[in-house]
Amino acid sequence: MYTSIIFSTIFIFFCINNVLTIHCPKSSAKWCQNKEIAQICGVTEQCKKFVWKIHDGNDKVNFTLYYETLCPDCRYFMTTQFSKTYQTIPNIINITIVPYGNAHETYDPTTKLYQFVCQHGADECLGNLIHTCVLNFYPTIEQYMPFVNCTESTSGDVKTVATQCAEKTKIDFNKIDACTKSTLGNQLQHMYAVQTESLQPPHKYVPWITVNGKHTEEMQQEAERNLIKLICKFYKGPNPPAECKKYL
Ligand SMILES: *[C@@H]1O[C@H](CO)[C@@H](O)[C@H](O)[C@H]1NC(C)=O
Ligand SMILES: *[C@@H]1O[C@H](CO)[C@@H](O)[C@H](O)[C@H]1NC(C)=O
Ligand SMILES: *[C@@H]1O[C@H](CO)[C@@H](O)[C@H](O)[C@H]1NC(C)=O
Repeated sequence: MYTSIIFSTIFIFFCINNVLTIHCPKSSAKWCQNKEIAQICGVTEQCKKFVWKIHDGNDKVNFTLYYETLCPDCRYFMTTQFSKTYQTIPNIINITIVPYGNAHETYDPTTKLYQFVCQHGADECLGNLIHTCVLNFYPTIEQYMPFVNCTESTSGDVKTVATQCAEKTKIDFNKIDACTKSTLGNQLQHMYAVQTESLQPPHKYVPWITVNGKHTEEMQQEAERNLIKLICKFYKGPNPPAECKKYL
């Protein structure tokens, strides 16, 4: 009876002691052996990145495109370099698009709404607002990209094109149309105005790009020439995609 209590006490002690005595191995070759050891050695992030090669998403290059819907250079950029980059290296780029560009806004205290004046007229303001509403209701790039690309690659009456593109790309146009006439749509467009107007340096033209929040003339030119190359050069994470290998 006593012996069994003593033995089980020793056994329990042994087990607890064993758990407590895992410590960081001297040899760094063993640090990434498993999650527990990596954690004890304080090298989880390094193991993830260099040994286990796990993408946790934080390595993606942030890319933001400031544009307006009817500008010919924006249309060209979006349907060529930009669309190709999204199709080729989606795993290493985090895309944000901001439809506003060279527009201007004023606040009307009577209606409590913003009024917009756009470079290519009222049609462009409607186009920007349609994109703004689509981005709100279809926020993932997989959802909004087919519509955005369709409208940018099709000329014609803005509302007609949007209606046709919506039909082709599973966007509920009634919902979008209602949004463009609502306070919500007006507020959302204002948010993009604020985002565009707070750019540093301020944008001088469109399309205007930032990579990880920065803009230089050199980056802009590279983006228009070869956006895949530019994004690959900024990518510092594990497992660069095959398409990047030639630029590294
Ligand atoms: C992607 O960009 C958006 C907008 O800037 C940001 O909120 C989000 O955290 C970014 N995601 C990653 C994984 O970098
Ligand atoms: C991208 O933006 C997100 C959110 O602002 C940030 O957490 C992340 O570190 C950025 N990625 C790079 C590569 O700078
Ligand atoms: C965008 O449209 C262009 C021209 O129609 C097409 O070549 C390209 O594949 C499209 N891209 C996407 C992402 O749908």
